[in-house]
Amino acid sequence: MDSVVIFDTTLRDGEQSPGFSMTRPQKLRMAEMLAALKVDVIEAGFAAASPGDFASVHSVAEQIQGPRICSLARCNENDITQAARALEPAARKRLHVFIATSPIHREHKLKLSREQVIAQAVSGVKLARSLADDVEFSAEDAIRTEPEYLAEVLEAAIAAGASTVNIPDTVGYTTPAEMTRLIRFIQENVPNIDQAIISTHCHNDLGMAVANSLSAVEQGARQIECTINGIGERAGNASLEEIVMAIHTRADHFGCDTQIDTTKLHPASRLLAGITGSFVPRNKAVVGDNAFAHEAGIHQHGVLAHAETYEIMKPEDVGVLQSDLVLGKHSGRHAVVDRIKQLGFDLEFVNVDQVFADFKNLADQKKRVFDADLEALITGKPHSEGPWRIEALKVTSGIGADHEPHADVTLVHEDGTRRSQSGSGDGPLDATFHAMIEASGLDLHMTGLAVRSITEGEDAQGEAEVRATYEGNEMKGSGLSTDIVAASARALLDIINSVSRKQARKQAGDRGDPAEARAAAN
Ligand code: KIV
Ligand code: ZN
Repeated sequence: MDSVVIFDTTLRDGEQSPGFSMTRPQKLRMAEMLAALKVDVIEAGFAAASPGDFASVHSVAEQIQGPRICSLARCNENDITQAARALEPAARKRLHVFIATSPIHREHKLKLSREQVIAQAVSGVKLARSLADDVEFSAEDAIRTEPEYLAEVLEAAIAAGASTVNIPDTVGYTTPAEMTRLIRFIQENVPNIDQAIISTHCHNDLGMAVANSLSAVEQGARQIECTINGIGERAGNASLEEIVMAIHTRADHFGCDTQIDTTKLHPASRLLAGITGSFVPRNKAVVGDNAFAHEAGIHQHGVLAHAETYEIMKPEDVGVLQSDLVLGKHSGRHAVVDRIKQLGFDLEFVNVDQVFADFKNLADQKKRVFDADLEALITGKPHSEGPWRIEALKVTSGIGADHEPHADVTLVHEDGTRRSQSGSGDGPLDATFHAMIEASGLDLHMTGLAVRSITEGEDAQGEAEVRATYEGNEMKGSGLSTDIVAASARALLDIINSVSRKQARKQAGDRGDPAEARAAAN
């Protein structure tokens, strides 16, 4: 059976969208998970975009074994040589060069003629091929490109040495039937197409990214570019877990499969959500909490009688554990470690001592520790990375004229600085945020808050996601606790700490102290 190459761009197209940015250590942790998932290619970033991007691509290339590591580059010398340098340590590498081909991009963005675009594509691919033996070429906005011209560009790119040609739906505009026709047109009109793999890269602006990608596979495309949880520019990219499970579940229809270890899909989804502080919607296909929950009586009866009445995939196939075993305060380290493994996390990449200590604390607060609780401890942020920590927080609230919500907070910096502040507001959270922002001394503006309960029950853990702007940039923080005020305070602390770390990096850079700057960057 044919295999479809799964090209993961969570760390590039996914990460570049607002609310999903990741630090270098977070990217590395995610890359480790992508390797465990057995994706074929990890697009680790766009090396020339910034020194931070360069460093992230370089670290992934240095430390991740298994998948081919890739960097994006425009078709110019600087981008391509930087990408090649960043990829140097990788055992298996790919250079991914792109240029826009549609009339709207040629005229308004590039100000280049058709011939000039082809010339740049060819010189870009040739330079890339002189630096790596695996080169992918993308015709940005291919969907809105004149098909005959697109065929010419692809033919030239393949002749110059590209072994994968990617057909991006950059603006999420196409439909499944249109995608089928375009791939067929390419197969019939690009004379050397048999020397390259056809790939697609679909955005989800009209909610059709997965359907469009699958249409391309039906028509013979053998690489799909996608992201975990479908994160990405605007409405996102095609979601990896949906693509993989559609191809796998309907191998009879598609006549192909992937190399993905599907039991790692759920852990990978939860890890990304934990790192970026973005909840996965309950009804999300494949990885949402409700994906295998059967509420209606008729459905429950059917599933109990025979699971396939209403289940087309088995929960365990995507790494969802079906077990009644619940951990509690008497559970020992062995049981917790065992559960971490069963949940699909590789012990090599989990701070087991920390998770076990957090588990013990949590088990003191709530009777039963469910899998979702443990997952949150593994992937989430029970502890902010510092330099600030909350030493004390006291909040009062109530109903009536005499009960204006009020908060007293003390923040302590790792250098010993202690700041206490009081705040009032419309409610206990508002008062807490005012007090904390005042204590931090940062000009932060709250823009959003979401709180959700991780499991059922009165003592359930709450996960809070806070958004705030600092110097015009949107920042996001997340926090966990059985108390939603504490969870929200921790989420804001997360933002305060990332701004403080950024300031420390900048100050170290200004002083020209690279060792200190590097330490602050980690
Ligand atoms: O959406 C797009 O066109 C891209 C390309 C650079 C592949 O992300
Ligand atoms: Zn894209």
